[in-house]
Amino acid sequence: MPVADSALRRSLLSLALGAFATLGLGPAARAGEVEVLHWWTSGGEARAAQALKASLQAKGHQWKDFAVAGGGGDAAMTVLKSRVVSGNAPAAAQIKGPALQEWAAEGVLASIDDVAKAEHWDEVLPKVVADIMKYKGSYVAVPVNVHRVNWLWVNTAAFKKAGANVPTTWDEFFTAAEALKKAGITPIAHGGQNWQDLTTFEAVVIGVGGADFYRKALVQLDPATLKSPTMEKALATFKRIKPYTDRNAAGRDWNLATAMVIRGEAGMQIMGDWAKGEFIAAGKQPGKDFICTPAPGTAKAFSFNIDSFAMFKLKSDANTRAQRDLAAAILSPEFQETFSLNKGSIPVRLGLKMDKFDDCAKASAKDFVDTARSGALVPSLAHGMAVPAAAEGAIKDVISQFWNSDKMSAKEAMDRLATAARTR
Ligand code: GAL
Repeated sequence: MPVADSALRRSLLSLALGAFATLGLGPAARAGEVEVLHWWTSGGEARAAQALKASLQAKGHQWKDFAVAGGGGDAAMTVLKSRVVSGNAPAAAQIKGPALQEWAAEGVLASIDDVAKAEHWDEVLPKVVADIMKYKGSYVAVPVNVHRVNWLWVNTAAFKKAGANVPTTWDEFFTAAEALKKAGITPIAHGGQNWQDLTTFEAVVIGVGGADFYRKALVQLDPATLKSPTMEKALATFKRIKPYTDRNAAGRDWNLATAMVIRGEAGMQIMGDWAKGEFIAAGKQPGKDFICTPAPGTAKAFSFNIDSFAMFKLKSDANTRAQRDLAAAILSPEFQETFSLNKGSIPVRLGLKMDKFDDCAKASAKDFVDTARSGALVPSLAHGMAVPAAAEGAIKDVISQFWNSDKMSAKEAMDRLATAARTR
């Protein structure tokens, strides 16, 4: 009986569909998995990464964590290279600045223009940021946030105990360091890893030479500027900091250095505002337990570090959909706020309210706009924003060798810097 047969089939089919709907299997069939490479493993960073995971899961997808520990991301980049070479790229990877162009030129990144168009990225992002995310006019990455690198973190109680004042110039910095030392407090918490040495150095270069000098020397890599009297002064100032760090600094992770300031064992740290994420995760309050102030002499400048995720070409449709959903979620106003509150950064999306943010973030947001106007907004060399990876790596090595050597003069360091700048 064909009629009864087809009626039966129809009702069976609707029963089955009903069961799928009840079990939620309909949407799940569309769900995908996104493997995300990042290096956010410290207290504040992990809280921020958790927010990213939650926003993906809220869209019904699965998060596959691919965390490679190591501040600054050098270790993560090494692992990423071997994964891509073996044809096994993750869906998304934390890749920043000029390196995005290098990866895109390899042909492994996917255009995410469909998402960008639907979500109006060209309107909600500052043009300088959008340009970094595009390869040949197409978006291949999504920006997450804006970090300011040129900060000095101060433990309020330690300064009070030492009778020290929060420094705004390098002279005041060394006066404060002396006072802290006399009070038995390690003046500067430092982690002797090459990217941390370079983070300190670039703050000194901006503080000693100003934003234009920094740009000419460490962004344009102009040989004469790299070997100028101002650079010599910057190198000498940088080296003067070392005796105020402790003996165990070599190899120390940045967040352990931040922890020394959080506990009051050390008075100060020069570090980007991901350090604030650590203070916040430890329950400390800005303005009360700790102070954020621009690194000496850099109040009118802003060295920026924009975290971003590059999207790799994928084979599975479901995973590609999940990847696009992640990209869209990253620039949603809600995620922008939650993420930066935990990370210590500011939202990269324009026009968001800052009411929930603390004074450090509010100052950062204002200075970002002001310095963009004045021309003192500069890309951070130490955080992959300024020059191709090969030159950055070579400069990083010279600066660390200079920091660690008792014999290398500033003049020799300048010669080596000029050579390193030519690395391709
Ligand atoms: C930076 C990165 C930040 C921060 C820091 C320490 O390069 O952009 O997000 O986490 O490294 O790991």
